[in-house]
Amino acid sequence: MQEPIQEAIEELIQEPIKIAVLGLGYVGLPLARLFATQYPVVGFDINRERISELNSGIDTTQEVSMELLKAVLLDCNPSYLFKDLPILKFANEDKNESPEGTITEIVIGQTHGLFCSYDLSAIADCNYYIVTVPTPVDKNRRPDLTFLYKASETVAKVLKKGDIVIYESTVYPGVTEDICVPILEKISGLTFNVDFFGGYSPERINPGDKAHTVEKILKVTSGSTPEIGRKVDDLYKSVITAGTHLAPSIKVAEAAKVIENSQRDINIAFVNELAKIFNLMDIDTHAVLEAASTKWNFLPFKPGLVGGHCIGVDPYYLAQKAQELGYHPEIILAGRRLNDSMGEYVASQVVKLMIKKGIVVKDASLLMLGITFKENCPDVRNTKIVDVIAALSDYGIRVCIYDPWVNPDTVLQEYGLVTTTDLASQKFDVVVLGVAHTVFLDMDFASLQNENSVLYDVKGVLGDEGDGKL
Ligand SMILES: NC(=O)c1ccc[n+]([C@@H]2O[C@H](COP(=O)([O-])OP(=O)(O)OC[C@H]3O[C@@H](n4cnc5c(N)ncnc54)[C@H](O)[C@@H]3O)[C@@H](O)[C@H]2O)c1
Repeated sequence: MQEPIQEAIEELIQEPIKIAVLGLGYVGLPLARLFATQYPVVGFDINRERISELNSGIDTTQEVSMELLKAVLLDCNPSYLFKDLPILKFANEDKNESPEGTITEIVIGQTHGLFCSYDLSAIADCNYYIVTVPTPVDKNRRPDLTFLYKASETVAKVLKKGDIVIYESTVYPGVTEDICVPILEKISGLTFNVDFFGGYSPERINPGDKAHTVEKILKVTSGSTPEIGRKVDDLYKSVITAGTHLAPSIKVAEAAKVIENSQRDINIAFVNELAKIFNLMDIDTHAVLEAASTKWNFLPFKPGLVGGHCIGVDPYYLAQKAQELGYHPEIILAGRRLNDSMGEYVASQVVKLMIKKGIVVKDASLLMLGITFKENCPDVRNTKIVDVIAALSDYGIRVCIYDPWVNPDTVLQEYGLVTTTDLASQKFDVVVLGVAHTVFLDMDFASLQNENSVLYDVKGVLGDEGDGKL
């Protein structure tokens, strides 16, 4: 029996495939790199600096190593290679005379690779367009679909008969078919499900996680017709070793992704509430969770700050759609409110500990270790450490930020905060372990602390070493 991946490749190879991935960020680049191991791929991004870095083999998100990137990088558009090569070789070498001919060789190795560009003409001859652009919320926490509108306009300008446009950005159910497809139709003049087709396949990667990389995470797929669903599924199945799940419709696939992250947000909100309750009772929340986790069906969530581009944002997408339909979500938004209150709560806990130890709060020096939204990754988007810093500064505390993972210019640009790159021989009244980067775990915290000082462990990873934890 043939391996499922090989079957999928053989099915797909009967028609030439050329993939464009629009948006080469945390999601788009690893995906483009993976597809490029088997197909001709053009990675398209409007950020010229990003394109130039990628063409030198540098991924500043640190999701794709230079070695892996360089192994697929092409210095010219793969269409030039592609045009000159046969896709299939038939037994008698003549496809016209023997349409039923047996495949004797699949010329796949020579037609693959990744070409990165900001030039629209580079993606004009692709037939699969995969959109992986950001879907943030605005300052009122409403979905901001501007990036999706723009990327859809870009695809529409080069859309041709037979093309398939697959969205991967996290959205609420209906965005692909009710918002993006009309843009594609209007600008291209083509008709959906007649001239061109659609798909949705949400991404589940976890930035900084080198174990669960894109090919190792089972992927949900969907298409705008049953046949297109199978085609989209085959395309992903040919590279995702963990396999795929073909959802019955695009809306089901969109809904599945947004509830995965909403569920996580609500579960973390619950343990954050427990932490607030147990702190009032002077009970160690982590010890309680450890004990409760011995039951087979207890879910092992931990208290913490919920930031980043996904878990703290996606529930607002679902809530917005529900509200549009006249339903006002209670649990989803309660979870958001609770999690959003945690920055200020952490600051208040730190100040209480300082007062108990007789440390003068005003003008006290505090070292914040970490400012990214999660460990071992340079992403500072929507990081809740800035809420902690803002609240601590409101108390008059002088905060020094140290994070070897971040680019100090990015932090200054996004938050107006200065980060130090050198701790030298400074000592502080308070040290807060804000992010559990591996490099922090073996640090000699005592060498950074004044004699009378506080060590606070936001992530609860230091055992009993600190004076307090969430
Ligand atoms: N980061 C994650 O962990 C993660 C995980 C799963 C799903 N997602 C979802 O995937 C989507 C992308 O997230 P990300 O973290 O990769 O974002 P990102 O900001 O890292 O990358 C997006 C890229 O898109 C580019 N871009 C913006 N507009 C464009 C356009 N019109 N045409 C071409 N390129 C354009 C940007 O320059 C950027 O390089 C979002 O919907 C997000 O919710 C993210």
